[in-house]
Amino acid sequence: MPLIAVNFKAYPESMGDSGLHLARLCESVGEERGLSFIVCPQQPDLRFIAENVRIPVFAQHVDAYEPGSRTGHVVPEAVKASGARGTLINHSEHRVQIFGIDWLVEKCGSLNLDTIVCTNNISVSKACAALNPTYVAVEPPELIGGDISVTTANPEIVSGTVEAIKRIAPQVKVLCGAGVKTGEDVRVAIELGTEGVLLASGVVKAKDPKKALYELVKEV
Ligand code: G3P
Repeated sequence: MPLIAVNFKAYPESMGDSGLHLARLCESVGEERGLSFIVCPQQPDLRFIAENVRIPVFAQHVDAYEPGSRTGHVVPEAVKASGARGTLINHSEHRVQIFGIDWLVEKCGSLNLDTIVCTNNISVSKACAALNPTYVAVEPPELIGGDISVTTANPEIVSGTVEAIKRIAPQVKVLCGAGVKTGEDVRVAIELGTEGVLLASGVVKAKDPKKALYELVKEV
């Protein structure tokens, strides 16, 4: 079953009650069309949204620290306690060094939190797959937030990531993202061998997010 992960980012359209509304839209479209959705709300809304939807809720980022004397950091244990089921790690807008990614994948695994590690090219995808996250999501940074999908602008990075990861760590699932907005983008992502897509602006910034969601799933 294809997966659509929606990153709410820090957009004003996804804060608080609007974030819950968006998460509920994802849930109802997913249930109606038999597709898996993950939503990644803003950190302060994690518990609020996790308590009010059935689909998995993931954090957008988590800090590579043990709980303790820290200020303003979000540790994996706190993400778990919020009711979230996983987290993005190393998003291009919130990079983490490789030893931090390694530590986080291990720690989240021990807490039964799924991990989506974002990468910017095939080499980084290979390195991150070797750390054994649940997913690697390849997203060329220059296409993020734009109108041309990675599946059109650079399908080779998607198929190349899929092939490389199959060789190194076949249990690691692959997503792709950046500029994904249409049903065709999602269909091509699946045809290129991914499990699905990670996207943001196509839904969060859409004039009519419900319509955008139906458009997104119409070819799968
Ligand atoms: O996390 C998803 C993301 O970086 C892609 O953003 O707006 O191009 O779908 P967007």
